[in-house]
Amino acid sequence: MRTYHGRIVSFEDPTSPREYGYMTVEDGRITSLSKERPSIMGELVDYSDRLILPGFVDTHVHLPQFYSRGMISTSLLDWLEKFIFPAEMKFSDPGFARKASREFFSTLIRNGTTTAMVYSSSHREATEIAFEEAMRSGMRAVIGQVLMDRNGPEELLTTPKRAKEEIAAVASRWHGFDGRLFYAVTPRFAVSCSMPLMKTAARVAEEMGLYVQTHLSEQAEEIKEVLRLFPGVSSYTEVYLKAGLLGRKTVVAHAIHLSDTERRILAETGTKVAHCPSSNFFLHSGTMSLPSHERFGIVVGLGSDVAAGPFVSMLEVMRDAYYANPMDPFKAFHLLTMGGARVLGLDGRIGSLEAGKEADFVVVNPEPLASPDDDLWIILSKLMILGDERNVTATYVRGKRLWPAE
Ligand code: GUN
Ligand code: ZN
Repeated sequence: MRTYHGRIVSFEDPTSPREYGYMTVEDGRITSLSKERPSIMGELVDYSDRLILPGFVDTHVHLPQFYSRGMISTSLLDWLEKFIFPAEMKFSDPGFARKASREFFSTLIRNGTTTAMVYSSSHREATEIAFEEAMRSGMRAVIGQVLMDRNGPEELLTTPKRAKEEIAAVASRWHGFDGRLFYAVTPRFAVSCSMPLMKTAARVAEEMGLYVQTHLSEQAEEIKEVLRLFPGVSSYTEVYLKAGLLGRKTVVAHAIHLSDTERRILAETGTKVAHCPSSNFFLHSGTMSLPSHERFGIVVGLGSDVAAGPFVSMLEVMRDAYYANPMDPFKAFHLLTMGGARVLGLDGRIGSLEAGKEADFVVVNPEPLASPDDDLWIILSKLMILGDERNVTATYVRGKRLWPAE
């Protein structure tokens, strides 16, 4: 048993966070939270000049794009062809995939991210390596092999039959591993997937109870291309609906240029949205309206979308979330933590610091931006606008300190 002492803050409520001074953790779970020093404490870990926050959740990030940040373009489709497909091809080399995966997960952890929903490359072996490295890192992750069967380089393309076999092989080993790793069926987007591939993907996901992740309605040019490729559909969202890809375990990234009819489809199917504001600014994709999604009750979390998003740090992504949709820092931290957990359906286990939940948390140093005893709203506002990797002192998953390594 260990008791952590610090300025402990949890964001179950988007308007009024809860604050404690002591958190007791036993066997990876939070057993109690209190303002006063508890009578039975075990070992005391003193973070008295630090904040202790729920672990950050990144609901959308591309592992094989880790080295591709910062290469500008305003056209998504050109950027994919020019920079991203060539970068992802390198993951046919298992040695390279191993090195990149290791660096990827350790960097996320150093930035306070405890859970991530991850796109791997189009390679089965690189996807298995991503799972192995996620397991070793101690992080929580949902990972999937990218599926494409058209409009991409030949060597990144698959077939419905092969996709089904590869998903089944990798997911049967890793989905649910240690209650920490899960598989997401990952058709890249409607531009690079035929209807038979998407239908096969949807069927496997349904049969095996897997997550689904894809991109939706990011740029005007992309939407035009989708409507050209699928004549007869009335919207981009309808393509995924017809394929059977939408549902409670489905996370769509971006969802920027949607009609209310499309929002209603997302809401009625229980589909979740990964909001990726840094990516949307970087590629000049447009601004997602958070209030419009909220009006329909759509669950939204934050995603870095590395590499279209230049920042691994979710604190930096939060700044862009604020620029895209002005919001209170309490709300921004709620989206980052509880929002992310709800997107993944893991809010019974993680997303907040509550007795019974698993002890995923980040120790944050507010200095030099703010003093640790400043007003909480001011500290969080400063962290939301100016925070980055330098403010992260330590990252814990299930009560184990992953960084700096225990
Ligand atoms: N749409 C399809 N693939 C991608 C990708 O890799 N990044 C982004 N931002 N959008 C996409
Ligand atoms: Zn993406």
